[in-house]
Amino acid sequence: MADNIHPIFDKLLTRSDKEKHLNQKAKVLWFTGLSGSGKSTIAQGVEKKLFSEGYFIQVLDGDNTRTGINKNLGFSLEDRKENIRRISEVSKLFLEAGVICLNSFVSPTLEIRALAKEIIGPEDFLEIYVNTPLHICEQRDVKGLYAKARAGEIKGFTGIDSPFEAPQAPDLELLTENQSIDESIAEVFNFVLSKISI
Ligand code: ADX
Repeated sequence: MADNIHPIFDKLLTRSDKEKHLNQKAKVLWFTGLSGSGKSTIAQGVEKKLFSEGYFIQVLDGDNTRTGINKNLGFSLEDRKENIRRISEVSKLFLEAGVICLNSFVSPTLEIRALAKEIIGPEDFLEIYVNTPLHICEQRDVKGLYAKARAGEIKGFTGIDSPFEAPQAPDLELLTENQSIDESIAEVFNFVLSKISI
C-alpha cells in the first residue's frame, strides 16, 4: 500500500486520532465516597453498559492498583496522596490513548481530589460523589473493615478515625440510599453519554 494513501501514518498519532479510531471522547469519571459506598460496583456496572454500547473503557480501583503499581502504599494521608497522584498520572496516559477511565477511589480529602483534577486536567475530570451515609456503609460492612476499625484493629480508617471531606461541587451526586444499584448505574450512564460521544 502506497504511503500517501493513508496520511495518518506520516505523523505521530495524536489523542484525537485515537479517539476517532475508538469513536469516543476520552474522559475520567472519578468516583469518590466512603469505603463500602458502592463506588466500584457502580463503576463496574457502568463499564458493562458502556462496553455493550461500543465504548472502550478501563476501570481503575484499589483492587487493581493497590495490589500492583501502588502495593508499597498504606493509608496515611501522605500515602493516599501518593496513591492518587500515581493513579492520576496513569489515567492521563489512558486519556492519551483515547480510553475512558472509570476510577473508583475513596480519595478522601478536597486536597487529594484537587490534585487528581489538576494532573488529569479539569476539562477531562468528571467528579461523581457516591453519597452513601456512613451508617449504611457500616451496616453493610461487606469487607468487615468497619468492625475492625471500631475495635481499634485498623487505625486511620476513613469515616471512623480518618477524615472524609464531601465534594463541594461534584459534577454528579448519587444519593444511593434512595435508589437501587441499577438506578445509580443508569444515572451515571445518562450523565456521561453526551460527554464521551463524538
Ligand atoms: S484512598 O484513600 O487512597 O483513595 P483507596 O480507594 O485506594 O483509598 O482504598 C480504599 C479501600 O482500601 C477501602 O475500600 C478498603 O477496602 C481498604 N482499606 C484498608 N484500610 C483502609 C483505611 N484505613 N481507610 C480506608 N480504606 C481502607
